[in-house]
Amino acid sequence: MFEEAQYFAPVATRDDGTVEVELAASHPGFADPVYRLRRNAIAALAVGHVPGTPIPLAEYTRQEHEVWALVSRELAIKHRKYATVEYQDAAERLRLPGERIPQLQEVGELLEPLTGFRYLPAAGLVPLRDFYGVLADGFFHSTQYIRHHSTPLYTPEPDVIHEVIGHANALASDRYSQLYRLAGGAARRVESERALEFISKIFWFTLEFGVMTDQDELRAYGAGILSSYGEIEEFRNMDIRPLDLVAMGTTHYDITKYQDVLFRAESLAHLEDVVGEFWATCDDESIARLIADARQG
Ligand code: TRP
Ligand code: FE
Repeated sequence: MFEEAQYFAPVATRDDGTVEVELAASHPGFADPVYRLRRNAIAALAVGHVPGTPIPLAEYTRQEHEVWALVSRELAIKHRKYATVEYQDAAERLRLPGERIPQLQEVGELLEPLTGFRYLPAAGLVPLRDFYGVLADGFFHSTQYIRHHSTPLYTPEPDVIHEVIGHANALASDRYSQLYRLAGGAARRVESERALEFISKIFWFTLEFGVMTDQDELRAYGAGILSSYGEIEEFRNMDIRPLDLVAMGTTHYDITKYQDVLFRAESLAHLEDVVGEFWATCDDESIARLIADARQG
């Protein structure tokens, strides 16, 4: 399995149809029975969802809405300083609510008129081929639960704050959303697991954790940086490397902590030329060649 597979808590469906999310003992919600019941109830919504029908509404508690409101407020301040202008303009077009968690159905209805993207609910890990593949059709799989209230700054498990504040704001940009679609097309085109992993790592180092030169300084466009008001304060101090397909496709990363190796594009046009063009044209053979050339140095 790729690294990404591990950050989702396993979801088990019992014989009586109820759902149990297995949190690790190190999870901040592990010893919180109220939080565990919430996680089970919210996962059950996605398990029962039939594609093409409206996404079931999650009834969030007051405390959950408060976590959203707190994180949204903190991030809005940080985005002005650290997010690319393209991302900020897209966020302004999307206009997510700040005081309450939006429903995924609603997020899709805000996005669709802008870039055609809609949301799909995910209980936990979606097989990578499906997760990436449906991006080509303008669908984005999203978790619906929110991080534990004791850790608003950062969570190693992608939650609705990450999926919506991080990704939906980016998906509201014509240019970023096009890159998501191209990643999806690439994932569909390749057959080998090796090529899929290469594509997925490039996604990780760009649309999840990408940074670029913007307004003459280093700014973030990756959803994973833009959804954590802890990590966003640190990315400028990390090991910043030049944008390079082979390096991104083969560099190891640890999903449980702040990313300490990041790749910088010189501009959005540069990102589109290098990564967009790669996703638009790559296949199993071209990826195998890139990996082999890199080995020979
Ligand atoms: N750390 C992110 C946050 O706090 C969420 C997140 C967890 C994430 N795992 C991820 C983001 C993997 C990108 C990729 O908002
Ligand atoms: Fe993500």
